[in-house]
Amino acid sequence: MTDSAPTTAGSQDPAPRYVHVAFPIEHVALVTFDRQDALNALNFALLAELTDALERLDRDPACRCIVLTGAGERAFAAGADIKELARQTPTSLTVDDEFHRWERIKRIRKPIVAAVRGAALGGGCELAMACDMIVAAEDAQFGQPEIRLGVMPGAGGTQRLTRAIGKAKAMELVLTGDNIGAREAEARGLVTRVVPAEATLEAALALAGRIAALPPVAVVAAKEAVNRAQELSLEAGLEFERRNFFLLFATDDQQEGMAAFSEKRPPTWSGR
Ligand code: CAA
Repeated sequence: MTDSAPTTAGSQDPAPRYVHVAFPIEHVALVTFDRQDALNALNFALLAELTDALERLDRDPACRCIVLTGAGERAFAAGADIKELARQTPTSLTVDDEFHRWERIKRIRKPIVAAVRGAALGGGCELAMACDMIVAAEDAQFGQPEIRLGVMPGAGGTQRLTRAIGKAKAMELVLTGDNIGAREAEARGLVTRVVPAEATLEAALALAGRIAALPPVAVVAAKEAVNRAQELSLEAGLEFERRNFFLLFATDDQQEGMAAFSEKRPPTWSGR
């Protein structure tokens, strides 16, 4: 789809222009953003559609895990849209507050697996890092090149990259704008796994399918606890973990999972 794709301009609820949602596997939503003529650069309209789609899926009981990918082979996303950013001022960025969507993506409770082919640069790297896991093609490239544009990462790059790969390497990437390839990203802990390029989406869907087959309340609680490890002291994180663990004993799925183990049968999850 290109920038000149028709929209239902003027209607209350325009048809999505850039973002497509499908359910290729039971309980797994595949969200594809498509702006290939600009290497899937994340303009504000795309980001708005993406956030809306993710929030809808977060509320949808049919969805238990999300795979997020950019259309085509060349890029997951080559960053925020530089041409749109070039027109911004401190006032427009503050008043229009388009960047609030990054906070909303962070609040999605269901797991999100990023399937990354090609360039994941700037906002594209930040979007992949905002997901819970990254399945990367052998040809994927990760980096924060904003410094070369006279700015710096603005959607989480300095924080998430540093937490993922450590200060020494994150500082080098942020200050030089250099990229790292998929294998190095995997070795440094940024990426969950690297697969042959043509198998990227299939591998991400397979991982999501395994997660979607597990008890969804426990999955959400576990995701929440792992993410807290990035933000809390060890003591506060351990307390958070224990509370979530205790709370899961109020679920039908805890009863079912433990009963099924004793009865040597596969469990049937109700999601309650
Ligand atoms: N924004 C807008 N358009 C972009 C873009 C971006 N981030 N990245 C690529 N494009 C466009 C190009 O302008 C080009 O369009 P035209 O055909 O109309 O000229 C098209 O996509 C193809 O790009 P290239 O011709 O440059 O393709 P390439 O294969 O030669 O290079 C690339 C690929 C190295 C990824 C290069 O496109 C590039 O460096 N892109 C910019 C990467 C970048 O700096 N990202 C950071 C953006 S700022 C940001 O993300 C801020 C933040 O933290 C939120």
